[in-house]
Order: sequence, then C-alpha cells, then structure tokens
Amino acid sequence: MAHDPNQTPDPLAEIEAALVDLGRAFDAAHDDNDLRQVTARYLGKEGTVTALTRRIAELPGPARKPFGQKLNEAKAAVERARGEAELRLKTEARARDLGQPAVDITLPGRRPARGRVHPIMRVLHEVIDVFAGLGFDVAEGPEVDLAVNNFDRLGFPPDHPAMDMHDSFFLPSGDPGQKVLLRTHTSTVQVREMLSHPPPIQVICPGAVFRRDDDVTHSPMFFQLEGLLVDERVTLAELRGVLDAFLVRLFGSSIRTRFRASYFPFVEPGAELDVSCLICGGHDAGCRVCKGTGWLEVLGCGMVHPVVFEQVGYDPERYTGFAFGMGIDRLAMLRYGVTDIRYLYDNDPRFLASL
Ligand code: PHE
Repeated sequence: MAHDPNQTPDPLAEIEAALVDLGRAFDAAHDDNDLRQVTARYLGKEGTVTALTRRIAELPGPARKPFGQKLNEAKAAVERARGEAELRLKTEARARDLGQPAVDITLPGRRPARGRVHPIMRVLHEVIDVFAGLGFDVAEGPEVDLAVNNFDRLGFPPDHPAMDMHDSFFLPSGDPGQKVLLRTHTSTVQVREMLSHPPPIQVICPGAVFRRDDDVTHSPMFFQLEGLLVDERVTLAELRGVLDAFLVRLFGSSIRTRFRASYFPFVEPGAELDVSCLICGGHDAGCRVCKGTGWLEVLGCGMVHPVVFEQVGYDPERYTGFAFGMGIDRLAMLRYGVTDIRYLYDNDPRFLASL
C-alpha cells in the first residue's frame, strides 16, 4: 500500500529511511574512531535509530510489534555494517604492513674480540727494530742456565756482595758442582755468544729473566734486553753515541740523556743512563713520574771488564767493548704511563685494551 505523505508517516518506512545511507556511511570510515562515530550516529544516545525507539509509545497497540521487530532488524543491520567495515579496515591495514620492507628481527652480530700484541712485546719489537737499524744481530739463550754463566764468568767472585743484587731462583741440579738457576739477567747470553764466536761481536739479547722480587716496580719474571759490542778500539764515547741514538729513536729528539757512574761487576767504568722525564721534560718539581728530579733511569751500561774477556778467551789487550742492559717492562711503563708493573702481567683485557 502506497504511503500517503499527508497522513501520519509510516513508522516502518521511517526506519528504512534512517538506514538509507548506512552502507555509504561505514564505507567512508577510515579508522576505529570513524567507526565509533558512524555507529553513534545510528545507535548513540542521539542516534537516529535510538530516536525511533522512543516513538514506540505513540503507536497504536497492534503496530508496536512489527515496529519493534523492524527496529531490532535495523540495529542488527547497523552492527553488521560496522563489523564489515571493521574487517575491511583490518584487511587494508594488513595489506599495507605486508607492502612495507621486511623488519630484520635477527640480533645484531657480535664482533669477535680483537687480539692485540701485548704492550711489553710492542715495546720489545720497537727496541729490537731500532738496534737492528744500528747494526745489531739478535742472539737468544736458555732461561735456565748455569750459575757460572750468570755470575762467575761475568766477574762476580763467589760470595761477592754484588750477588745480593740477584736474589735468584736456584734449581735442583744433577751435579753438585754445577749450580743451575733461572737466569737473573740476559748477560748470560753475552757470555755464551763470546764463548762461541770470536770478535768482532755486535749483538742484542732480549728475553725473560727471573728474580725474587715482587712489588709495584718489580715482577719476579720480567723482560730484559742487553747489548754487547766488542771490537778493537771500541770507546766509551761510542757507547754513549749508540745509546743516545737508540733513545732518540725510541722517545723522540726532544729528550736529553745523562750518564751517572754506577757499579756492575762485569763493566769498568760502569754507568746508569737517565733520560729527561718523558712526562714533564724536567720542568715540573711536582711531577709524579720523575718525582721532581727531572730524570728517569732507563738502563745500566759500561765498558766490558777485562776479566770477562779473560773468562771467555778474548785477548783483553787487543779488544775492548761495551755492554748495556735495560728492562723492557720499565720502558713499557714509561711509554704507556703504567704505574704498577703488575698490571702488565695481570692481563686484564680491559686494561690491555686501554693502552
Ligand atoms: N746485567 C745488568 C742487570 O741485569 C744490566 C747491565 C748490562 C749493566 C750490561 C751493565 C752492562 O742489571
């Protein structure tokens, strides 16, 4: 039956009219917020469908039931349209995500720890390079040696007080007449070189040495490098020249050096050599490294004692020579500003990586 606009409007047609735009309204929704607003337009407190439910009271009794049913259908239609729009939005969002470049969910790779040359070995190699450049060959010898090579042939008389400088690690020996020990200096190698080669000789002897010492500047095992040059007419001035050239190459041309008279049984005269402080250059009375003296002791040296030549069968009338010896650990401490020698041997990777 056609509806007459002049009569009371057909309430069922009004419900249908309220839903004409339903599909379009939800199609226009782009996100959850839109969905909420569109739904509210129909079912919210002020929504069109909600407003129609209030009309039920005005209707004559028999019209109420079909009207109520139609209203319920309308509500269901709104919910369905909302559900469909929600699904559409989700599908669209997923398609957008899949179009994005893939996210890399793997852990970043871990770089393997980098090995580095130990600071003592770095300095040792530098020192060897410098002396190699000055014409020295490298000679090596055993860490366990006879006491005669460590003391007697170097002019230490038995029970000489100088032996106190070398508080040694003696080892059990098969022969009671032959004392054996961990060498206390690499001068043993110089003795061995002279015993096995005629002059001229020009060698450096790097290696580990052992003394009963353990404090901030002494380790019971440490590294030395000694040098020996023997020929006719070798002079103290040449010793000084070689050592100055070495120290300038190692520490730079701004350093100064000085000899201080000292005593070692196997040299005469003997000296210790100091360099001007690498930290303050000798200009800071409060310097912690040189303790305000301006100088750092770096090595012992001297002219080979004729007694040593006699011991190894060299003619002391014909040959002269010089010898020097230094602690590589000490040079490494100076070079890297390390205050306790034991840090160099603890081998904590954090400390080593900081040098
Ligand atoms: N051998 C000495 C030491 O161990 C160092 C040194 C070598 C001194 C050569 C003088 C000459 O202390």
